[in-house]
Amino acid sequence: MVEVKNLTKYYGNVLAVDNVSFRIEKGEVIGFLGPNGAGKTTTLRIITGFIPQTSGEVYVNGIPVSEENPETKEFIGYLPENNPLYENLLAKEYLGFVADVRGVENKKERIDYVAEKCGITDVLNRFIGELSKGYRQRVGLAAALLHDPEVLILDEPTSGLDPNQVVEIRNLIRELEKDKTVIISTHILQEVEALSTRVIIIHRGRIVADDRIENLSGMVEGKELLSVKIKKSKKDPLKVFSDLGNVGIIKEDAQEIELSIESAGDIREEVFKQCVDNGMVLLEMSRRKRSLEEIFRELTR
Ligand SMILES: Nc1ncnc2c1ncn2[C@@H]1O[C@H](COP(=O)(O)OP(=O)(O)O)[C@@H](O)[C@H]1O
Ligand SMILES: [Mg+2]
Repeated sequence: MVEVKNLTKYYGNVLAVDNVSFRIEKGEVIGFLGPNGAGKTTTLRIITGFIPQTSGEVYVNGIPVSEENPETKEFIGYLPENNPLYENLLAKEYLGFVADVRGVENKKERIDYVAEKCGITDVLNRFIGELSKGYRQRVGLAAALLHDPEVLILDEPTSGLDPNQVVEIRNLIRELEKDKTVIISTHILQEVEALSTRVIIIHRGRIVADDRIENLSGMVEGKELLSVKIKKSKKDPLKVFSDLGNVGIIKEDAQEIELSIESAGDIREEVFKQCVDNGMVLLEMSRRKRSLEEIFRELTR
């Protein structure tokens, strides 16, 4: 369990995290989403105990994160942003080094176990500097898992990877998620949709949304999107529908025009009526759920 209460962080005059609170239960997988500079890395570094907060509290398994309580670090496995690794070590030397720092018992068995789990058994004897970015991420994940932490914190785990590597690392994370509490930070929406069940959106240091992904569609209060396809005629559908809501053109050719109408409620009957009254041929009408992308853009505008 991770609890963040009224967390605030200033770097000098720069307010990076502004009174942030959230709570993550055991076994949850959270997408921590926000544009660059939103305050994700700062928040994660404070949770992992790498940097101190300006004010507010963080609890991991009920224990406040602070210099006096180094044991909170034992509950956490951390893959930092950009995954800095020692390029001139063999992968197995690096894992050995991390195991020593972490005081891992049964070092050899643990390294073999996490290597197997992360699919790096075959590259343990290679220099990290020679490995592809995808394999380096795997080594970083293996290192984060060595001490068998309950909580896994991954800061932009797929950034800089090519599309195939992204898929591989996501699959690996999905495997690892099964028995851990996980926080994955990202500025990429698809990442959140692919990996997590709940999303916390942070923008300019503040939390602007915290909900299960399927509930977020209702976030932008009372707004409905309807797409309407009409056969072209002398009537201008933009004018006809302008009283019903915000009308925009999605697609248009010589025969047909497709519109989106954003409105406060369900206007399907009204649209149908207007078409009949104005002699327009209605070809298609569908309610559209807002995509997470649209919600994200709206919330972080
Ligand atoms: N070490 C630092 N010194 C000064 N400002 C920083 C430092 N690290 C981050 N910041 C600033 O804090 C804000 C949040 O940054 P960060 O937590 O890295 O965001 P994110 O990870 O969401 O991209 C940004 O405005 C960034 O420029
Ligand atoms: Mg960051």
